[in-house]
Amino acid sequence: MSNVNLERRIKRQAWFPEHRFFAVTAPGLEALCAAELTALGAGEVQPETGGVNFSAKLELAVAANLWLRTAGRVWLRLKDFRVRLWEDLTRQAEAVPWEVFLAPGAPLNIQVALKGSNLKHTGRIAEVVGRAAAQRLREVGLAPPVPSEPGDENAQRLQVRGNDRRASISLDMSGAHLHKRGWRAQGGLAPLREDLAAALLMLCGYDGREPLLDPMCGSGTLVIEAASLSRGLPPGRGRSFAFESWPCHREAAWNYLKRHTLEQALAAPAAPILGRDSNREAVALAQGNAELAGVGQGVDLEAGDFFTAAPPAGPGLLVMNPPYGKRLGSVRQAQDLARRIGQRLTQAYGGWRCGVVLYRPEWAEALGLSETTAITAPFGGLHVTLLFGTVPQK
Ligand SMILES: C[S@@+](CC[C@H](N)C(=O)[O-])C[C@H]1O[C@@H](n2cnc3c(N)ncnc32)[C@H](O)[C@@H]1O
Repeated sequence: MSNVNLERRIKRQAWFPEHRFFAVTAPGLEALCAAELTALGAGEVQPETGGVNFSAKLELAVAANLWLRTAGRVWLRLKDFRVRLWEDLTRQAEAVPWEVFLAPGAPLNIQVALKGSNLKHTGRIAEVVGRAAAQRLREVGLAPPVPSEPGDENAQRLQVRGNDRRASISLDMSGAHLHKRGWRAQGGLAPLREDLAAALLMLCGYDGREPLLDPMCGSGTLVIEAASLSRGLPPGRGRSFAFESWPCHREAAWNYLKRHTLEQALAAPAAPILGRDSNREAVALAQGNAELAGVGQGVDLEAGDFFTAAPPAGPGLLVMNPPYGKRLGSVRQAQDLARRIGQRLTQAYGGWRCGVVLYRPEWAEALGLSETTAITAPFGGLHVTLLFGTVPQK
C-alpha cells in the first residue's frame, strides 16, 4: 500500500473518529480515575468494577496515558459486537483496520477472556483474531505480527473479552503498567504502588497548595507523587507507551504535547513538601528516587523519628504509609503502632488533615481522626484501606 493510502486510512480510522476506551484501575479506585478522565475532557465516562469506560478521540486517549495517575492501563476498543458463531468473530476481526494500529512484524500477545460464550476454545479464538490481523497486514504489503514469546513484556497486548453473547477486541495503549512511572531504581523495603499513592493524595483533596509531610516516607513514593501533582507534571513523563510503536502514532505531536506540558509545569512545588524517615538509608533512597523522577528540587528529605521530631510549619496535609503487620512481626504490634501514631497525631498535629494507608480497616479507630472517608483497594495480596480524616484540635 502506498504511504499516501496508509496516511488516509490513518486519518479516517485512527484520528478522526471517536473511539471507546477502557482505563483499568485497581478495584476501589474507579471513581477517582473517572474524575481524572472527566477533568481531561473524556466523554461518556462510566465507571464499572475494575476500571472506567470512556469515549474520546485518540489524541485525548494519548494524553490520558500521559496524565492518568490512578489507572493501570488504557485499552482502545477496536470492536464491540455480538458473537454467537465462529463466523461472527472472524467477520468482526477481519473488519479491524489492523494496518493502522499494529507495528509490522512486531510481537503480538493475544489474551482471551470470554465468559459464558458459545465460543469456548481460547486458543482458537486467539488464532482467528491473529490470522485476521496477519492477513490484513499482508494484503497491504506489510509484515504480519509474530506471536510473542512467553513473558515478553514489550509485546503488543491484544485482548478478546466479553460475557455471554457480547465480545470486544481491544488493543493496549500503555505497555508496562501505568504505575511504573519510569523513575524507580529500587523499591526499598515496602514501597507503596504509585497509583495507590496518587489515590490517597486525591482522596485527601491534595491540590499541591498546602504544606505536605510524609513522616515515614520510605522510598519516597508519596512525596514524589505529591511533588508531581503540585507542580502539574504528568506522571508518565519519564516512560514509554505501547502506542508509540503504532503506525498511526504522530511522533511530532507527541513530542510537542510532552514538551508543552513540561513548559507549563511549575518549577517547584507550590507549597513545601517534606519527607522524613527514621531509617537513614530510606532517606537516601527517597532522595535518589526524587532526583530520578526530576522532582529533587523542592522536596526536602531528612532523617527523623515521627514520635519525637517536631512538626513542620502547618497545618497542612500529613500522609503516611506506616509499617504493617507482616513486617512488624505481629498483629498486636501493628495495632499498638496505630494507637501510638494516633496519640502522636493528637499531641502534635491538631488541625492537620491526614491520609493514612492502613492494612487493617479496624485500626482506623486507633488513629482518632474525625470526619473520615475511606476507600479500599487490593495491594500485594492484601486489601489496603486509604483513610482520610482530620486530626482533632486538643
Ligand atoms: C511501609 S514503609 C513506607 C513505604 C513508602 N510509602 C514507600 O512507598 O516507599 C514504612 C516506613 O516507615 C519507616 N518508619 C517506621 N517507624 C518510623 C518512625 N517511628 N519514624 C519515622 N519513620 C518510621 C520505616 O523506616 C519505613 O521506611
